[in-house]
Amino acid sequence: MCGITGYIGSRDAYPIVIKGLQRLEYRGYDSAGVLLYDGSNAQVYKTKGKVADLQAVVPDLQQKGTICIGHTRWATHGVPNDVNSHPHVSNSGDLAIVHNGIIENYDTIKAELTQRGYTFKSDTDTEVLVNLIEEVQKVNQCKLGKAVQLALNEVIGAYAIAVFDQKKPDELVVAKLGSPLAIGIGENNSEFFVASDASPFIEYTKNAVYLDDEELAIIKVGRDIRIRKIHDDSQVSPEVQALQLNLSQIEKEGFDHFMLKEIYEQPKAIKDTYRGRLLPNEGIIRMAGVEEYIERFKSADRIIIIACGTSWHAGLVAEYLFEEIARIPVEVEYASEFRYRNPIITEKDVVIAISQSGETADSLAAIKMAKAQGAYVFGVCNVVGSSIARESHSGAYTHAGPEIGVASTKAFTTQITLLTLIALKLGKEKGNLANSDFHAHLQNMELIPSKVEKILKQDAAIKEIASEFLETPSCLYLGRGYNFPVALEGALKLKEISYIHAEGYPAAEMKHGPIALIEDGYPVIVIAINKGHYEKVVSNIQEIKSRKGKIIAVVTEGDVTVKEMADHVIEIPEVEEALSPLLTTIPLQLLSYHVAVARGCNVDQPRNLAKSVTVE
Ligand code: G6P
Repeated sequence: MCGITGYIGSRDAYPIVIKGLQRLEYRGYDSAGVLLYDGSNAQVYKTKGKVADLQAVVPDLQQKGTICIGHTRWATHGVPNDVNSHPHVSNSGDLAIVHNGIIENYDTIKAELTQRGYTFKSDTDTEVLVNLIEEVQKVNQCKLGKAVQLALNEVIGAYAIAVFDQKKPDELVVAKLGSPLAIGIGENNSEFFVASDASPFIEYTKNAVYLDDEELAIIKVGRDIRIRKIHDDSQVSPEVQALQLNLSQIEKEGFDHFMLKEIYEQPKAIKDTYRGRLLPNEGIIRMAGVEEYIERFKSADRIIIIACGTSWHAGLVAEYLFEEIARIPVEVEYASEFRYRNPIITEKDVVIAISQSGETADSLAAIKMAKAQGAYVFGVCNVVGSSIARESHSGAYTHAGPEIGVASTKAFTTQITLLTLIALKLGKEKGNLANSDFHAHLQNMELIPSKVEKILKQDAAIKEIASEFLETPSCLYLGRGYNFPVALEGALKLKEISYIHAEGYPAAEMKHGPIALIEDGYPVIVIAINKGHYEKVVSNIQEIKSRKGKIIAVVTEGDVTVKEMADHVIEIPEVEEALSPLLTTIPLQLLSYHVAVARGCNVDQPRNLAKSVTVE
């Protein structure tokens, strides 16, 4: 993964790049580094650890200059140590590079370069790339831009790179394939910003160009960006977009952590997702991306949902929604498995790709494969202009706003919101849903944000419950039907951020294995709302109780039966089963959050994880 950023202009570049790296830390935080050019000398500073550790190693006197490139790393090749950190410098010392991605054939290239006398300090693929660029430049006696282009034509893999050449210190060369790259443009081309997303430069400019795959740009102060296609050198006109992002969306605004802020943002985020789409007064759901391909949806033999992580859990909820409401068979696939198992795909398949970032490498590769085999691909993404959004035939954005906490929260509930709208729309279009039911669903959907608000008010009580979990080595999450995926998501949240082992299970499956874990005091979180198969869940709770497990139950307001058996209950407002995941998820997010905080974990940047996994 990794995040890259850079600046070229007339301001002090270092503070801009450091702040940018902090905003990109969600992409990886194993190491960080910068190259600074002060007008006559280039210096590289890098270190294992976070951006804060990097700041400690850059001497105050060196923090000057108007050109800087920086990197925050999620290690792929080579352990996270100082040497493997970026920027990497070529053997001559002239070229420096920051890279997000993977060069798959780096081994072969490294062997060739070694034969030609190159030496390598690190174990990284990136150091190989910068030396390949140097070698190409030497052999062809060409400018940096040309050398980067020729070198990239020799590599296999994915990249977003920024390259600096000390011999020509008035330009940056950037290029993209598979990993995202945005260029912020200052007034009259007086300065430029480069970054993995637009967050590092939103306070400086609202004008940005997002490079497409296979594009290389030469950035020089005082003139327009020059973009070329890497494989055939054809010229591309820069398409300048106006950024919608604003500063408050990427700041904590008084919350201790981004994760908590994002949990609290859910009422608004859900509303933003359905705004302009859910129109109860008119009795319609308006979604251009679905309408444009409505016949493909209506005639689909099946829907294949492709996703990873939390987005995959949203896909599982959608399986219940689509099968029940739209009566279309659904398969939910881990993108990484789907793409490598020679799946059967036909032109009658509709593929829905779900991805918060829109950049997850496995999901992207899986939809490319499905497309190539004739399937119609619909993207459900949060990040506007992301690779998956662009690769899809059509789609819809969740409009959740930036999600910065590595553990996904509002992305999940907004994905479910969007998928519910699609299921309802298709149910109506296919004639599976009576008018009155359709209208009732629309109205119920509109009530969800205020119900989420109500659950958030129980935060203090949930924190209290969390305090009992702190020492447990493991716990179990159970749910049935629509709430089985919620149990999986609850367990994922806890293990990601608190490092407590947790497993989600369909409640009825408990007796086929996990029940063996239950002993005196073993925590079991059960979603036991009064819809679906409530009585059966109650029986499961009895089974846990008789083995002295500690029960934390999410129940419907006014529940009496479960309350009598459980050690703790968290109430959610009355809701129809199909919409219940939007509510039952909230207390589980808060529970994980409070457990992790009380255990002293870094909630926003859990160890070994990254928000956007742009490598396999
Ligand atoms: C990473 C993140 C998860 C996320 C998953 C899929 O593992 O840590 O929070 O659910 O990637 O990401 P996507 O952007 O495709 O939804």
